[in-house]
Amino acid sequence: MASPPLLWTLFLFFIIISLQSHGEEEDTPITRFQQYLRFKTAHPNPNYAAPVRFLVDQARSIGLSTRTFEFVSGKPVLLVTWLGSNPKLPSILFNSHLDSVPAEAEKWIHPPFSAHRTVDGHIYARGAQDDKCIGVQYLESIRNLKSRGFSPLRTVHISYVPEEEIGGFDGMEKFAASSEFTELNVGFAMDEGQASPGDEFRVFYADRTPWNLVIRAEGIPGHGAKLYDNGAMENLMKSVELISKFRETQFDFVKAGKAANSEVISVNPVYLKAGTPSNTGFVMNMQPSEAEAGYDLRLPPMADPDAMKKRIAEEWAPAIRNMTYTIIAKGKLRDHLGRPMMTPTNDSNPWWSIFKRAVEATGGKLAKPEILASTTDARYIRAFGIPLLGFSPMINTPILLHDHNEFLKDTMFMKGIEVYESVISALSSFEGVSDQVI
Ligand SMILES: *[C@@H]1O[C@H](CO)[C@@H](O)[C@H](O)[C@H]1NC(C)=O
Ligand SMILES: *[C@@H]1O[C@H](CO)[C@@H](O)[C@H](O)[C@H]1NC(C)=O
Ligand SMILES: [Zn+2]
Repeated sequence: MASPPLLWTLFLFFIIISLQSHGEEEDTPITRFQQYLRFKTAHPNPNYAAPVRFLVDQARSIGLSTRTFEFVSGKPVLLVTWLGSNPKLPSILFNSHLDSVPAEAEKWIHPPFSAHRTVDGHIYARGAQDDKCIGVQYLESIRNLKSRGFSPLRTVHISYVPEEEIGGFDGMEKFAASSEFTELNVGFAMDEGQASPGDEFRVFYADRTPWNLVIRAEGIPGHGAKLYDNGAMENLMKSVELISKFRETQFDFVKAGKAANSEVISVNPVYLKAGTPSNTGFVMNMQPSEAEAGYDLRLPPMADPDAMKKRIAEEWAPAIRNMTYTIIAKGKLRDHLGRPMMTPTNDSNPWWSIFKRAVEATGGKLAKPEILASTTDARYIRAFGIPLLGFSPMINTPILLHDHNEFLKDTMFMKGIEVYESVISALSSFEGVSDQVI
C-alpha cells in the first residue's frame, strides 16, 4: 500500500524539478529585463560592475561591439555600438543610466530588487521605470532588427552611464565633455522620459535648470520691544514678500491653464534661518543681526537668465537694503553657441518628424511635447547643441519613478521594444543632412 503514494510523490517531484529547470533556462526579453533589474544599483553604493558585465554579454550575443570608459575610477561608462553602412554620417545615440535611487524595502509589496512578476504581468523593481526598461529595450529592439536582416545607414550607439541620480557629475557630464564622445559625432540623441498614465506617449524636449538661491540680510540688532528701521529680519521679510508675489504671478499662468508647471519659473522657499538660539528655543526679546532664506528655483530654457539675475540683485537681495545673495546654478540654460537648450519639436527639426512618424507607425500617439520638470543627463548632451528627445515608451502606466512599488507591465515592456524597433530603424536610415536641425 505504500508504493502508489511514493510513486505519486516521485512523479510530482520530477514535474516540479523539470518546471524549475525550465524556468531557469528560459531566456526571453522579459527574463533578461528581470535579470537586469536584480542588480543592486541603488545609491549610496550602486553596483556598477555586475550590470556592466551583463550588458556587455548581451551586446556581444547580439553581435554589437562594446567599449568601457572610466572617467572616474569605479564609475564605468559602457558604450555599445552598431556600425552603420555610412559611418561618416552623424550617429544616433540612445542613453540610459545604470544607477537607481534607494528603495525602502519594507514599504514595498515585493522586494525592490526581486523583479517579481505577478500573474497579471506587473514586474516590480526599483528601476523598472527609471530607467532600466529603456536600457534593455534598446538592446532587444536591435536584437530583433538584426534578426530581421535590417542594417543601419548611420551608426547607432547605446550609452550606459553611472551617477545620473546624484547629478551625473562623474557620469554623463564627464563623458559628454570627453574627446571619446566628440569622436562619436552624435547627430541626434535620445534619453529617458517618463511614464504616461493615459494612452499617449510622453516626449520631452528640454529640462529645467535648477538654481539654488540663498539671500542674506544683515541689520542693526536691537531689543525685541523697539520699533526701528533696517533690522535684518525686516529687510529679509521685504524680500520674502517680493519673491512670494513673483511666485504667485508664475503660478497664476499655470492655474489659468496658460502654461504647464514646467514652463514657468518656479520659486519655492526651502529654508529660513534666523534668530538667537537659547536653551529653550530662541531668544524672544532680541531682533537678530542676521537672517537668511533659501530658495529652489527652476528655470525653463526660454527663461532669460540675465533678467533673472538682475531681478535678484535689484529686487530680491539689493545691496542698498544690506543684502547679499548667492546663486548656485546647477546647469546651463544656453548651449555652447548661446542658444536656449531645447530641441525643436516641429518640422524645422527633421529628427523630430522621423521620430514622430516612427512612433505613429506602431499605432502609438504622442502627447504634446513637454519640458521635464526636473533634470536628467540630457542637459549635458543638449549643452553641445545636439538635439535630444526624452522618451520612455510607457503608456497606461502610473508614474512611479522614485516611488514605492515601482513596476512596469510585461506587455508594456514588450510594446516598448516594438516602438524602439520602429524608432531606431527610422532614425538610423535617415539620409538627410543633420545641420538643418539647428
Ligand atoms: C545698512 O547697514 C548700515 C551699516 O550697518 C546702516 O547704517 C544702514 O542703515 C543699513 N541700511 C539698510 C537699508 O538696512
Ligand atoms: C519651430 O520651433 C522653434 C522653437 O522650438 C521655433 O523657434 C521655430 O520658429 C519653429 N519653426 C517652425 C517652422 O515652425
Ligand atoms: Zn532616470
